[in-house]
Amino acid sequence: MMSGRRVILGVCGGIAAYKAADLARRLTQEGCEVTTVMTANACRFVTPLTFRTLTGRPVVTEFFADPASPVPHISLAQAAELVVVAPATADCLARAAQGRADDLLAAVLLDTVAPILWAPAMNTRMWEHPLTQGNVKKLTDLGHAFVGPCAGVLACGDTGQGKLAPLEEIVAAVRAKLIPAGPLAGKRVLITAGPTREPWDAIRYLSNRSSGRMGYALAAEARRRGAEVTLVSGPVSLTPPLGVRTLAVTTAQEMHAQAMALFPETDIVIASAAVADFRPAAPSSQKIKKQDMQAHLELVPNPDILADMGRAKSRQVLVGFAAESDPNLESAALKKMKNKNLDLIVANAAGGEQDAFDAEQSAALLLDARGGRREFARQTKAGLAAEILQSLEAWLLTTPHA
Ligand SMILES: Cc1cc2nc3c(=O)[nH]c(=O)nc-3n(C[C@H](O)[C@H](O)[C@H](O)COP(=O)(O)O)c2cc1C
Repeated sequence: MMSGRRVILGVCGGIAAYKAADLARRLTQEGCEVTTVMTANACRFVTPLTFRTLTGRPVVTEFFADPASPVPHISLAQAAELVVVAPATADCLARAAQGRADDLLAAVLLDTVAPILWAPAMNTRMWEHPLTQGNVKKLTDLGHAFVGPCAGVLACGDTGQGKLAPLEEIVAAVRAKLIPAGPLAGKRVLITAGPTREPWDAIRYLSNRSSGRMGYALAAEARRRGAEVTLVSGPVSLTPPLGVRTLAVTTAQEMHAQAMALFPETDIVIASAAVADFRPAAPSSQKIKKQDMQAHLELVPNPDILADMGRAKSRQVLVGFAAESDPNLESAALKKMKNKNLDLIVANAAGGEQDAFDAEQSAALLLDARGGRREFARQTKAGLAAEILQSLEAWLLTTPHA
């Protein structure tokens, strides 16, 4: 379940730093992509080599050292899905609570939008000191989470609160942060996106203006909500979302074959691709010369992916998309939902002022087969994806078979 999740492990200069090496190993074994960020003092207790070997990934120790990454704190902070600091020293907590950025780890903590999990370890008096407790409160108020410290015999010989939490507890806290407990968690979600291209000859094809942005945003959001996502994508110029299995296809027939092969193992299908309804009947493998071209192009129908899934479905939840220029978008979408045996349908405008095609933003209307109806204002496709999937989660909770 944590496969491919991007975790930064911040390691500070405390005696428990040696335990962080085992934590790095366990998180890696659970499938996380662990990037270790070590403070200069951490490197006095354990070596970067240990973490590099256990995680199989680079270890970052300095702001200014790597010419390949001129602003490492920004790139690291932005790529992370979770930052876990273990062991966290009193000093690192103080730096973070003051908003300092005077070393790489502090800068990453200040720059990241990912959740932050602290696993402190220190002498009992340091932990119980009102200044440390004030820093912990400040960070907790900002939404940071803490695991431990727990009580026991400390390295300095004292007994009391301040021991690094057991590694199983830290791994469990990481898991709880990375794997949302919502209804999409663990579900296998298949998303189709983008246009298809239907060859006419060696260089010409029929296609449409779909950019794929909606499907890609849905795939990223479903993944964020803990789903196992496969994206079957027509030709687009977008970067595949991290952690999403992306399969590239070109034609409607290829998309149909790929989607139908995945369908039996799928829990939820979101069909946002703009699949060409027809294709040229006799595509040429050569470029057709202008003088040999016919004024009329003979077309044949493509397979209907959603209709075939609607017929084949057993337990699967089917979410379709309807893009219409028709002023009566809602009734057209309702008709499509019924005809294709869908559970939900997202209707949006094709063409005109509200055009969803090849646009950064879109409005939508979500309808379900039980008569539910939700309107979403025009917004970024990432925002719309979050609203659609939140509604889908609410629908799943009220649908026992799903
Ligand atoms: C042997 C030794 C052990 C230490 N253990 C701890 C510790 O467990 N927790 C802690 O907060 N500081 C500990 N310190 C103090 C930190 O190393 C010191 O505060 C340092 O500035 C922390 O740097 P960092 O937060 O940048 O890694 C220890 C220092 C030494 C010399």
